[in-house]
Amino acid sequence: MPTLTAHKSAPLQGRIRVPGDKSISHRALMLGAVALGQTRVSGLLEGEDVHATAAAMRALGARIERLDTGEWRVHGLGVGGLLQPHENLDMGNSGTAARLLMGLIAGHDIHATFTGDASLSSRPMMRVITPLSQVGATFDAAEGGRLPLTETGAKDPMPIEYELPVASAQVKSAVLLAGLNAPGETVVIEPTPTRDHSEKMLAHFGADVHVQELPGGGRRITLKGRPELTGRDVIVPADISSAAFVLVAASIAPGSDVTLTDVGLNPLRAGVVETLRDLGADIEILNPRVEAGEDIADLRVKAANLRGCTVPAARAPAQIDEYPVLFVAAACAHGITRFEGLEELRVKESDRLGVMAEGLRACGVQVKDGPDWLEVTGVGGTDTCVPGGATVASRLDHRIAMSFLVLGLASDAPITVNDASPIDTSFPDFRGLMQGLGAHFTTEKD
Ligand code: S3P
Repeated sequence: MPTLTAHKSAPLQGRIRVPGDKSISHRALMLGAVALGQTRVSGLLEGEDVHATAAAMRALGARIERLDTGEWRVHGLGVGGLLQPHENLDMGNSGTAARLLMGLIAGHDIHATFTGDASLSSRPMMRVITPLSQVGATFDAAEGGRLPLTETGAKDPMPIEYELPVASAQVKSAVLLAGLNAPGETVVIEPTPTRDHSEKMLAHFGADVHVQELPGGGRRITLKGRPELTGRDVIVPADISSAAFVLVAASIAPGSDVTLTDVGLNPLRAGVVETLRDLGADIEILNPRVEAGEDIADLRVKAANLRGCTVPAARAPAQIDEYPVLFVAAACAHGITRFEGLEELRVKESDRLGVMAEGLRACGVQVKDGPDWLEVTGVGGTDTCVPGGATVASRLDHRIAMSFLVLGLASDAPITVNDASPIDTSFPDFRGLMQGLGAHFTTEKD
């Protein structure tokens, strides 16, 4: 396992583009595969999770070519056109790839066996099995509704109306993708809005998707089945979830001044910017624009004196993947930061609440945690740093690995991550880009 150690660094400085958005990259390959004709994707994330999706879509009959770095072409089969795969679909570490594909396959008269790594094989799949069974798919899953799992899609998929019991864009997307090949209208009701990349991209490919705002803040999404989807150009913005590591690193490394270009700022994803600002971060949003239906901007971040705050539960869906690195920001802030509404963190690539609490304590940070909350007592001030000096296990979780490496850049003693390889799932050149800004990392070989 390749270890990586982060050392207290000089100010981070420069201008970078972090890799493409993972959520949008998965969806571009999947929708490209069920659209007729060619889809050209620019800025695709070339991380392991997206490679797993590309391999699966090829196994399902789509022709997918890599033309250049981030430039991909998909020759789609049309709605309902996926073919019987002759191999297992290995989803690696990716919950998004697994759950969205289960949705797509639910509307096809084919069967597929999904496998994954130890992390993915421990994650709950009942949340998609339940609605997709209503569509007519059947499942033979490992105990507790987990991978490995064999799904048999419906011969005659039923359009369903489904109210999400958890705030999950993956579940919403799985139901909508199943509804693509069902007659009539598929409806998803979400009491709390989650990232809407699927709705936006379905519309971009020509589907009839209607989003109604409900009293109380929820949404009702209606998709007309059996649309004629047509291949399109998709421009993938830089991933706000990857940018978050740089935003926090530059906020806590004194003297830093970094600009991140082309960052996707979908309002249902951008909670991290709001929370960092509540913590006192100095983030400027520059050159805001809309590309392929998605909000994009450049972000300039300068080091700041962070101070504790309460982060509301209502913001959780808009920053669900950013909590690990937000806990790191809180550890470097002055005073207490309380995070609430964290129950979904328990079922991510790792139990992110438990793993972060344990790792932060090992680094000398005072942390209190409950079933769905975490309270961090930050060391605060520009001259006071987190002690650090620990080796933390990344537990097959890219965001745990990167969060502790970011903390190491502003800790008194270095922080080592026992296995940095999971970083490749979402941010393949994390080390190179961060070093280009001035971050000091070493491996055992150095
Ligand atoms: C994702 C949705 C979120 C997020 C994941 C990507 C997506 O998961 O954590 O990294 O692309 O739809 P949930 O749907 O489980 O909240």
